Amino acid sequence: MATVTARAHPNIALVKYWGKRDPVLNLPAVGSISVTLSDMETETEVTLDPSAEADRFTLDGASAPAEAARVGRFLDRVRERAGIETHACVSSRNNFPTAAGLASSASGFAALTVAATRAAGLALDDRELSVLARLGSGSAPRSLFGGFVEMSAGRSTSGADAVARQLHPPRHWPLTVRVAITASGRKQVGSTEAMQLSERTSPFYGAWVERNAADLDEARAAIAHRDLERLARVTEASCLSMHAVALSSEPGLLFWNGTTVRVIHEVRAARARGLPVFFTIDAGPQVKVFSEAGTSFALEQVHGVEQVIEVGVGPGAEVV
Ligand code: PMV
Repeated sequence: MATVTARAHPNIALVKYWGKRDPVLNLPAVGSISVTLSDMETETEVTLDPSAEADRFTLDGASAPAEAARVGRFLDRVRERAGIETHACVSSRNNFPTAAGLASSASGFAALTVAATRAAGLALDDRELSVLARLGSGSAPRSLFGGFVEMSAGRSTSGADAVARQLHPPRHWPLTVRVAITASGRKQVGSTEAMQLSERTSPFYGAWVERNAADLDEARAAIAHRDLERLARVTEASCLSMHAVALSSEPGLLFWNGTTVRVIHEVRAARARGLPVFFTIDAGPQVKVFSEAGTSFALEQVHGVEQVIEVGVGPGAEVV
């Protein structure tokens, strides 16, 4: 029996991915740029067991039927690729709250991609790992790499060019990321369903796709020059545009709560006072606040903030 354990970290998009150009191959309609986080991690152990009659999956020690189906479909791809039929026992652990808008699907599928391919005897390059990870989750290829990462939308119908690559390693710009937890429940709508609703119904969806190339150029340049003010502008604009598309879907998707909005105001007020901070928000109520390392900025006192997790820029996925 081959057992392999891999570790991967969540990532947070500065330029957001929202929309699919091909839902079957899970090809993104837009490119995205992210930062991989340190400290928060998913560790996934995969054992290929010739005597097992089905795949088994546990998340944080408990069975997770919804995720198990998705994991099973992903393992089918790996088996297909490796030319084997062996079932797997997969156990995955997050050291942070699952499905609360902290991109556990990204770190989860990045860790699973690395562990399952290795256990199946495959030696894939970064591009091939990226293609496979994307079939699990659109943001997962970004967690294969550390530091600052770009995921391309690509053009080919096969998806061969819809891959992630590292722009800069973590040491390029040691930012601090504070995750303000404003609600700890699981999210209401899955991101795939939400994106597809936006694509079908938001009158702003076309404009969102159109602005993407300029956002990517701007973010790439801001990161290359370590220009926080510039990165703040494009990151907040990408985030608020994504949420404008979500809000203008029918029925409207409102991921924020009152505390989310209070944190946004707090961050903007601090930046107006000259503090180098900015925010971004994914398909959930948590707010991720970026700053230059060493900037002290407390969010715990904002009414409704349950917890603040402080991390840095982290490494890519690896076998443990
Ligand atoms: O990878 P998914 O399908 O969970 O989509 C992630 C979408 C956002 O988190 C909202 C944006 C992003 O680019 O991470």
